[in-house]
Amino acid sequence: MKFGLAAYLTLLPLGAHSFHLPSSTSSSTTTRSTSTQLYQFGTLGFDTANLYSRSEEEQIKTRNEVMSYLSEIAQSSPPVVLRKHLGSTVVISGFNPEEAASQEILAFLNNEFSPHLSDTFKKIIAHVDDVKVGKKRLIGRNARYTGLLDKLDFTQSESEGALPTVVQLEGVSSWVAHVAGGDLSKLEDIVAVAEGAESVKNVAILVSGAQNVKGEELKQVEEMMKSKATTFEYTLVVVPEWNDEPEANCAFGIVNVTDVVDDAPFGEDVGSFSREESLRIITEALAIDKAAGKCVVATAAPDAKSLETYLVQGMREIGFDRLQEVEHMVTRGVKGYNEMLATEKEGVAWEKAPEPTDEELALEAASKEERMVLMRQKRQDTEKEEELKALATEWAKREFLRKSLKRRIPIGEEEFIEIVWDRAMFEADLKYRTMMGLAVNESEERAQFKEDQKARKAAAYKKEQDRWNNLSTEDIEPPEQTTAVTFGGM
Ligand SMILES: *[C@@H]1O[C@H](CO)[C@@H](O)[C@H](O)[C@H]1NC(C)=O
Ligand SMILES: *[C@@H]1O[C@H](CO)[C@@H](O)[C@H](O)[C@H]1NC(C)=O
Ligand SMILES: *[C@@H]1O[C@H](CO)[C@@H](O)[C@H](O)[C@H]1NC(C)=O
Repeated sequence: MKFGLAAYLTLLPLGAHSFHLPSSTSSSTTTRSTSTQLYQFGTLGFDTANLYSRSEEEQIKTRNEVMSYLSEIAQSSPPVVLRKHLGSTVVISGFNPEEAASQEILAFLNNEFSPHLSDTFKKIIAHVDDVKVGKKRLIGRNARYTGLLDKLDFTQSESEGALPTVVQLEGVSSWVAHVAGGDLSKLEDIVAVAEGAESVKNVAILVSGAQNVKGEELKQVEEMMKSKATTFEYTLVVVPEWNDEPEANCAFGIVNVTDVVDDAPFGEDVGSFSREESLRIITEALAIDKAAGKCVVATAAPDAKSLETYLVQGMREIGFDRLQEVEHMVTRGVKGYNEMLATEKEGVAWEKAPEPTDEELALEAASKEERMVLMRQKRQDTEKEEELKALATEWAKREFLRKSLKRRIPIGEEEFIEIVWDRAMFEADLKYRTMMGLAVNESEERAQFKEDQKARKAAAYKKEQDRWNNLSTEDIEPPEQTTAVTFGGM
């Protein structure tokens, strides 16, 4: 926030200004100008026009426009549609187990907060040069807790850096391929192997270190993929050299390969790209239906005043999750925003809509604010629900373990959890509120829960009885089973 001198003066009570002014200033002139300004802006109390510089005002205006554009989208867009044929087995290739990217990609594919990936892929195959090294590096101490231990498998490349073979891809439905060093020549081989492997339905390719490739080469690659990939869906994401920044630290921009400039496909100031962010984008893109068939480049957008930053930060503020954010940036991005502006301008030119009054603007701003609050609330609710479910699962698993240590339980953990789920959610709710420092009357609530359960059991029993009584003897075939079925004396 910047105060011009005039604005500063208007904020001062009459007479106080001379105290701050250099003695050379004629006090009478100053007094006159101050009182004029006070008179002019007297109704507002201060001169709002000079609070921000012109460029700051422009930025604020743009930012507000982006926010209202995004909140429109948040309201009107259907949820992200996931690809139908992700299958249950994903292979990762081009990741060296000795490097951080290999662990990060596994973490993205097997993350409890991304159930659209972690619940989908029951098996993850790491295609590596040396299985022994892979096992040593990738199966960490927490692999058991995260469930990775049960999911992770390995295949060994036939020669250093070789792609998986058609045989190795048998049963694999999805494939995340990383190509380092901007080596676009590898892509044709990837497409050929994927074409040959019948089970492969989705391929997401991440090319890193591509700061030196030309736009023309990228366009050729897109043409190649368009014509040669016929049996699977693909997404290609190309980024410049990696850096170690964590994901979601910096905004990013996405541009269709068809739209890049030949000499500077990443823009004038290439910079580097967060490795983790690129892995996030490629794994989400693998799952997003609308990302199928897309070939894009991604660049970091560190400039706080860029449209990319306004869009990405705006989405995060409104409560888009990363899946929605990636979908939006890939399918619309800055280009989509500018196209919207262009069509809007056209509309205005045609209709010459009257300028909204201040009152209308205020009303609109207020309802936007309300919508934003509602959206935030909704997001918090779903977050709480997720947390409760996680706590409940934790409780149920512990209970299962405790019980099975005492005696053998004739059912599996999953079934056990299902049966005790109501109780688990009750325990989770108690724990959650205790953690949040909210009022909990444990003894009373436990008693109430028991009552409720009893009532529900009775109701269920009654319903079963009714159903039984409603059956006539002819309904039950063959008749000799009747006696067997009436056990329990209903
Ligand atoms: C890619 O192109 C399509 C079609 O022109 C456009 O709608 C979309 O916004 C573009 N995506 C990006 C990220 O520029
Ligand atoms: C909890 O509820 C019981 C029964 O209504 C009551 O006797 C007890 O005083 C309550 N305890 C607290 C801490 O409010
Ligand atoms: C049993 O029959 C009665 C009357 O026909 C009906 O109202 C009721 O819903 C039935 N109950 C069940 C459990 O099917």
